[in-house]
Amino acid sequence: MLPRFPMTFEGWEESARAAMSPSVWSYVAGGAGDERTQRANVAAFARHGLIPRMFVGAKQRDLSVSMFGLTLPSPLLMAPIGVLGLCAQDGHGDLAAARAAAATGVPMIASTLSVDPMEQVAAAFGSTPGFFQLYTPTDRDLAASLVERAERAGFRGIVVTLDTWVTGWRPRDLSTGNFPQLRGHCLANYTSDPVFRAALPRPPEEDAGAAVLHWAGVFGNPLTWEDLPWLRSLTELPLIVKGLCHPEDVRRARDGGVDGVYCSNHGGRQANGGLAALDALAEVVEAAEELPVIFDSGVRGGADVVKALALGATAVAVGRPYAYGLALGGVDGIVHVLRSLLAEADLLMAVDGYPTLADLTPRALRRVT
Ligand code: FNR
Repeated sequence: MLPRFPMTFEGWEESARAAMSPSVWSYVAGGAGDERTQRANVAAFARHGLIPRMFVGAKQRDLSVSMFGLTLPSPLLMAPIGVLGLCAQDGHGDLAAARAAAATGVPMIASTLSVDPMEQVAAAFGSTPGFFQLYTPTDRDLAASLVERAERAGFRGIVVTLDTWVTGWRPRDLSTGNFPQLRGHCLANYTSDPVFRAALPRPPEEDAGAAVLHWAGVFGNPLTWEDLPWLRSLTELPLIVKGLCHPEDVRRARDGGVDGVYCSNHGGRQANGGLAALDALAEVVEAAEELPVIFDSGVRGGADVVKALALGATAVAVGRPYAYGLALGGVDGIVHVLRSLLAEADLLMAVDGYPTLADLTPRALRRVT
């Protein structure tokens, strides 16, 4: 029987494009500036080659990983994506990703900017743990309320995204002119929050553009190191900071009491002209010392997952690949993408003689250019 969905990233991308409106496609597929950094994220993987090992007999593999007191069946995660609802036929993309997490054991990091409120998302996780991604609002009471709700809903960690307090220069979105409206659809966590209702005036509901400008002032909080103790004080859950690529920032965050570091350049969506995220990973891992390091940006196949692990990532997240899976086949499409990535990684570890994650060290790689 032929597979229901395409078997490559290019196939997922092409099918998703056909299923999405042009403006949603531009928003999801696009990045900052001329998208050089976005392309560099992908190209960086080709500069590292895995060296096959023989006489290993890697018949049994173990891809399980422990972090934040959790044992996960694999080191794959779904990165937070704020417009998932727009990628889904029925509008409920956040719930679809949560159901895919339940079906695969691949945890979802649920974005603040969602169509489905976090309580409903968490309720669909089944026995798979999930994480809540916080865009820190300027209103500290609202931030505390969002974190408290995430704790109550059963999320197992808080991922604070630091690189998006203001949106980057994205020519594709500027060309379609639809960006504010897109964001305006993803405010369920704010609008359902009791503190939000109490503390802030509601924007004109009929005008999504005005609403988003209003919300930009709500969630656009340019945090400084002075805010880290406050963030830390918000929760006893594992606190992970997303967007760190400089080893000095990693050391400072570690000293500030975070539980994990998330090395990412937002898939090249925020800043152009930067380093490929993969090229920052080894130094981030070194600076993080004992802390788990999550990596994303540019992962397009199972071999990329394996390479990031070999460079020291504890777990690897994907963004666009599963958003495309959602667009092309709802829950089933996401499950297909996640299972394809995992199966390719597992098979590669078998063929190349690296049966466990502990076997994947920088010695498994050769830099090829
Ligand atoms: C994102 N990303 C993101 N990150 C975050 O912390 N909160 C968010 O709400 C979003 N929203 C979002 C929307 C869309 C459409 C995309 C593609 C990405 C960034 C995301 O978590 C991740 O860092 C990148 O997607 C990783 O790069 P790849 O896998 O897309 O190359």
